[in-house]
Amino acid sequence: MRMRMRRMVIASVAAMLLLAVAAAADPGAPPRPHPRAKLQSELVESLPGLRANEDVVLSALPHEYLEDHRLPSCFDWRDTSLEEGEGRASYVTKDLNQHVPQYCGSCWAHGALSALADRVKIARRGAWPDINYSIQALLNCGRDVAGSCHGGNALGVYQYVHDFGIPGETCQHYKARDEVCDDFHTCRNCAPPPPPQGHDCWAVPRSNYTSHYVAEYGRVRGERKMMKEIFARGPIACEIDSDPLDDYEKGVLIPEEGYEPHVNHIISVAGWGVDEEDGTPYWIVRNSWGTYWGESGWFKIKRGDNALLIEENCYWAVPEPNESWSAGLQFASSCGLPRVAALGVTKF
Ligand SMILES: *[C@@H]1O[C@H](CO)[C@@H](O)[C@H](O)[C@H]1NC(C)=O
Ligand SMILES: *[C@@H]1O[C@H](CO)[C@@H](O)[C@H](O)[C@H]1NC(C)=O
Ligand SMILES: *[C@@H]1O[C@H](CO)[C@@H](O)[C@H](O)[C@H]1NC(C)=O
Repeated sequence: MRMRMRRMVIASVAAMLLLAVAAAADPGAPPRPHPRAKLQSELVESLPGLRANEDVVLSALPHEYLEDHRLPSCFDWRDTSLEEGEGRASYVTKDLNQHVPQYCGSCWAHGALSALADRVKIARRGAWPDINYSIQALLNCGRDVAGSCHGGNALGVYQYVHDFGIPGETCQHYKARDEVCDDFHTCRNCAPPPPPQGHDCWAVPRSNYTSHYVAEYGRVRGERKMMKEIFARGPIACEIDSDPLDDYEKGVLIPEEGYEPHVNHIISVAGWGVDEEDGTPYWIVRNSWGTYWGESGWFKIKRGDNALLIEENCYWAVPEPNESWSAGLQFASSCGLPRVAALGVTKF
């Protein structure tokens, strides 16, 4: 018996809202190779707090100052150097899985916050530690602005983080469910003994943890503008039709001719390239379905003709520098000795 499932979220592109819709799974059907539950029933959520027509732009946009010829033919934030002559390194943050410990349609939070965390890493030039955002705190408190486990919107994520800030992941780990918004569901701590004897948990006051903000945010669309935004400032979040990703394994995804895409997912785009064998230009994209999916959690898709609508609705944000960015580093050793110097030749 073949499992008939269709996915979540339709987008009203004009309103920039992602709405949730879906079909039921056959009970008793065997799991697919990359199991992902889908949303149930015709569930529609709006985002009354979203300022859908507002971008907050304070500085010049990359497409206003970067000329086409400055763009390299390939570029990948997973493997690049920030300065001429500097060693190559990864400036992307950890891969995520929105579907554990249970199914949650929170692609919008994962795609937008992964791109933002990468941008902090780039701004901090890869210094320890990576900043990880609390997706659960956003799920709990961003429901009217950004979304829920039933779909959401990347612009709303950046609006929320701009207006209210977001704590780090150690305040509130991902539980893949919609909870209430209060101090306890934003940042908490607990004391022994462990359950079932102990239930001693409390809200950590706001002055005890850092909230991270963005200074500006907005939309970008079209191949060239996306490339310039990514190249100048870091990864971006984009809407996409994820149905053809169900069967993706590796290589450059090229949608079938005549395929009619509809937006139902959000991912982050972190670079581009050109296929060495057949010359197909592609995007380098991070998904949030775990590293056992695709190319270690990532995929490539044809670039330049709006494949699966990936070049239509993308979003960027510029993180606001905070002294807490260096707060962690002050505890790192100041030894600063390069490993190669200590061990002689170390090559991987
Ligand atoms: C963020 O996650 C990465 C990967 O798990 C980890 O190395 C890093 O220390 C984390 N950062 C913080 C501040 O917890
Ligand atoms: C908040 O920080 C203060 C000062 O470091 C500390 O005394 C207090 O116990 C902390 N409160 C909580 C709830 O963690
Ligand atoms: C850094 O974050 C803290 C806590 O959220 C905030 O009080 C402070 O104003 C921020 N500092 C800067 C320089 O943005």
